[in-house]
Amino acid sequence: MSNATRRDFLQQTGLGLAGLGVGGLVLRAGTRPTLATVGGDEANRILIQMGAIPKEATPAAGALKLVTPVSYGPWYKPGSPFRAKLSVPGEPGTTFVLSGRAWAFDTKRPLPGVVLDLWHVDTNGKYSDGVTDFRNRGRLISSEAGYYEVEGIRPIPYRSNPNSNFWRCAHFHLLAVCPGYKPLVTEIHFKDDPRKSDSMYRPENAIAPVKRILNGVNFETGVFDIVLERETASS
Ligand SMILES: [Fe+2]
Repeated sequence: MSNATRRDFLQQTGLGLAGLGVGGLVLRAGTRPTLATVGGDEANRILIQMGAIPKEATPAAGALKLVTPVSYGPWYKPGSPFRAKLSVPGEPGTTFVLSGRAWAFDTKRPLPGVVLDLWHVDTNGKYSDGVTDFRNRGRLISSEAGYYEVEGIRPIPYRSNPNSNFWRCAHFHLLAVCPGYKPLVTEIHFKDDPRKSDSMYRPENAIAPVKRILNGVNFETGVFDIVLERETASS
């Protein structure tokens, strides 16, 4: 692992992580849904745990493709909290559960211990400052089976400049860091986005949202697999 990658990983994990216990920060995909017994106000605040990812949503090892990188953009901030719920209780928007697996492209095996850093806009098309306000930002770690699952709201298309007619397609920003692998910076897009005319839209990075209802709560889900490339001596 190069010094740069080691530094990235240490920055991502933070020195305090070892003391917290990494296992406690991994959201286990096999956990049963927690929506079964809640209702009313609580239903808007509950963490949705979906259980195992459907087999058809998981690529065969031979079908793994590297993810197309997309640049950080101006709103990345290091130091987001480790959590599996990116949005605060009561955050306006469509509840969205994003899940998937991290894979090693070289071994074609699931990759545990990948630090995933996500950030996205709110329903006003604004990013939190990432200093005093971490809404719609968070980090989590892929499980021993490479799984991750995070709940938040669905990002919307936005205009960086309200005086411009240029619309960014809706996206999650993602940074994935793992020792021995090249850091991946990318965006996760949506197949049903009305703003696909954005030149940064990458159809190969687009997820197909699924509308769901559980215990009277409407939400959407999407699956995005993260495939990392082995770091080489020259990289
Ligand atoms: Fe963005």
